[in-house]
Amino acid sequence: MSEDPDVVSRRIASESLERDDPTGWFENLYAAAAEGSAVVPWDRGTAHQLLAEWVQESVPDGADKTALIVGAGTGWDAELIADRGYDTTAFDISPSAIETAHRNHPDSKAHYRVADLLAPPPDWHHAFDLVVEIYTVQALPIALQPEAVKHVAEFVAPGGTLLVIAAARPDDQPDEDIQGPPWPLTRATVKSFATADLRLIELSQSPSPADANVLRWRAEYLRD
Ligand SMILES: C[S@@+](CC[C@H](N)C(=O)[O-])C[C@H]1O[C@@H](n2cnc3c(N)ncnc32)[C@H](O)[C@@H]1O
Repeated sequence: MSEDPDVVSRRIASESLERDDPTGWFENLYAAAAEGSAVVPWDRGTAHQLLAEWVQESVPDGADKTALIVGAGTGWDAELIADRGYDTTAFDISPSAIETAHRNHPDSKAHYRVADLLAPPPDWHHAFDLVVEIYTVQALPIALQPEAVKHVAEFVAPGGTLLVIAAARPDDQPDEDIQGPPWPLTRATVKSFATADLRLIELSQSPSPADANVLRWRAEYLRD
């Protein structure tokens, strides 16, 4: 029987984390998946359910607007947003993820590119009408999360929207108790995307359809 994909990805992650390389494992995992020796556990083959629900509820019109998809992986969320008419940029730190996104969506209207959330292109500052962040911040060790949160928030243009979807953990659960990846976000971390002019306008928690014990945040913010 082949090995559990979660076990394989955790091994690839721990080898990288032990080398003090907290992001190198993503490329190793996507490259292994491309050659058939691993499975990317979060690759759903469709847009995230909570993003699809948000699109259904908000019916956003992306005409003449820009969107940025953070840690876009193989592109399913980016495709949903590009289909709403946004001029969509989708980035990931893993070149193999971006290659797979191109292969998955050969006729895509989205622009896929390799970039690092922790050192993003300066011209992305306050540049996007819609920013979608799903499960990237929680994929980084807790010590790196404040920097990642700051960059995500800075991408949002005046009048723009930020949507954050993340696994949740109780505020009173000590960081040391979390054996990541992932390192799910506390309410305090979700609230920390907000700044003086980027207001949290909606925050909800819901159980994952796959495992009712896993709770997910959906948070929406609006820049004045
Ligand atoms: C848990 S996966 C989630 C992928 C996708 N957002 C989803 O929900 O399916 C985290 C993603 O973030 C990417 N990532 C991790 N660190 C990153 C960084 N510093 N900059 C850009 N992408 C990063 C990984 O390569 C991976 O595709």
